[in-house]
Amino acid sequence: MKGVILAGGLGSRLFPLTKITNKHLLPVYDKPMIYYPIRTLADAGIDDILIVTGGNSAGDFLRLLGNGKEFGLKAINYTYQEGEGGIAAALELARHYADNEKIIVMLGDNIIQGSIRKAVEDFEKQPKGAKIFLKEVPDPERFGVPIIEGNRIVAIEEKPKKPRSSYAVIGIYMYDSKVFDIIETLTPSGRGEMEITDVNNAYIKNNMMTYEIIEGWWTDAGTFESLFNATCLVEEMRKSQR
Ligand code: DAU
Repeated sequence: MKGVILAGGLGSRLFPLTKITNKHLLPVYDKPMIYYPIRTLADAGIDDILIVTGGNSAGDFLRLLGNGKEFGLKAINYTYQEGEGGIAAALELARHYADNEKIIVMLGDNIIQGSIRKAVEDFEKQPKGAKIFLKEVPDPERFGVPIIEGNRIVAIEEKPKKPRSSYAVIGIYMYDSKVFDIIETLTPSGRGEMEITDVNNAYIKNNMMTYEIIEGWWTDAGTFESLFNATCLVEEMRKSQR
């Protein structure tokens, strides 16, 4: 399965840190942010990755990551998102690359502690549909939040004022090739973006979504608080590995 890492957007929640560089090139403890999702996918056996970047400093990704050899990748590819049309709009740029196969998508500002190798293998065997990951969090209103009935997700609400569960949908998604046809049917949300939550809701509506609760910690790094938190979590992890 091929991997797509979404590293576009303007990172406006991190201004002025992102005024002259791309959010995903900022440091998280001892590595640039983009290293973490690449490592997560590479450790799960994904060796062919497309980086969708945008905004500032797109050329720096090439200088930093080169041909992906450092991560043991067979191939690393790059494309550019104009503007900030949303996560689903960034993903749409991967249509040609995906070439009618299943894909795994990871947001460039998401960092996880553990491995997703087993879930990736499970999805390889899943005949069709999609798979997402959940994590229990103290502040679900910042994220996509699932409404769960029994052990089924019946819908996902994007940043609800009154969350209907204490879980966040984290920024790792696995899709079959239908994902691009779904994106084509979407319209921009209230915040003017093509939402990945709308893509996921389309799969849920058709009863084609599976999920897993992720083990270990997970964080995004797109706000000052979460960027700082990510640095602290990685520091702790490095210390425990020494
Ligand atoms: O972190 C998980 C959350 O990510 C999910 O729970 C939400 O459902 C999902 O909508 C998303 O929420 P955010 O509002 O935090 O996403 P953000 O706009 O910060 O974008 C996350 C990453 O997606 C960003 O680091 C790069 C990529 N992106 C985003 C936009 C808006 C793009 O590549 N292009 C874009 O236009």
